[in-house]
Amino acid sequence: MTGLLEGKRLLITGVITDASIAFHVAKAAQEQGAEVVLTGFGRMSLVQRIATRLPKPAPVIELDVQNDEQLAGLADAVREHVDGLDGVVHAIGFAPQSCLGAPFLDAPWKDVAVALEVSAYSLKSLAVAALPLLGPGSSIVGLDFDARVAWPAYNWMGVAKAAFESTNRYLARELGPKGVRVNLVAAGPVRTMAAKSIPGFKELEDAWGERAPLGWDVNDATPVAKSVCALLSDWLPATTGSMVWVDGGVHALGM
Ligand SMILES: NC(=O)c1ccc[n+]([C@@H]2O[C@H](COP(=O)([O-])OP(=O)(O)OC[C@H]3O[C@@H](n4cnc5c(N)ncnc54)[C@H](O)[C@@H]3O)[C@@H](O)[C@H]2O)c1
Repeated sequence: MTGLLEGKRLLITGVITDASIAFHVAKAAQEQGAEVVLTGFGRMSLVQRIATRLPKPAPVIELDVQNDEQLAGLADAVREHVDGLDGVVHAIGFAPQSCLGAPFLDAPWKDVAVALEVSAYSLKSLAVAALPLLGPGSSIVGLDFDARVAWPAYNWMGVAKAAFESTNRYLARELGPKGVRVNLVAAGPVRTMAAKSIPGFKELEDAWGERAPLGWDVNDATPVAKSVCALLSDWLPATTGSMVWVDGGVHALGM
């Protein structure tokens, strides 16, 4: 049987540990036949070490989404490894501590601006940087945390995710005529480095498993990874500007 992503060339951002959602996406994608190129931010030797834990070795390119030079050089850097791309995964999020857990009313704009640039505007920056490599039928997938409602502790990251969701819809408008799909997976909580940096997020993690009709394991990123792979595949060819909830069903409940 051939894999779901056989022959697909994918650029996957956001690996920092082997708990990263991006690591699990890269693993599942390779298992389904994809050729994976990673990008890493900051701690490059750590990302390179984590990359060796994938089923197949994957090259790592440095990319800080706030660095215009690195964004401008991304397509050429990717071409050193593959001649084009069929998919791009955005798994990047960051907000300064004042934006998370601390009183919502106290976060200064300079910190909120960083959260918005790294966590929302970067979906556009990454899409533009990768666009020269993307053709009809290709797919961009981002990782979201449902921003239709306000959560405890998530604060300005929630506002950034709302902007991220809107950016997804505008990118879908813009890139649809080029045959490029853009979608988000709205994941339930997964215990990663980013999640651990949110004071109070643990309460949300604990409650999720009890609420989710299908149940939910915060230590298992596989359901999220598989769903990202589905959106990267040819099996949702008319879906763009969408959010797919992969949260055990919590989003569908009132009480
Ligand atoms: N963990 C969760 O509960 C959860 C739930 C829903 C959505 N998400 C989203 O999933 C994505 C991946 O996060 P994760 O939970 O796997 O955590 P993680 O800490 O493993 O990954 C976050 C990544 O963002 C990268 N990053 C931060 N600033 C960057 C910059 N300036 N340029 C490039 N990369 C940068 C980090 O290097 C890291 O690899 C994020 O968008 C996050 O909001 C996470």
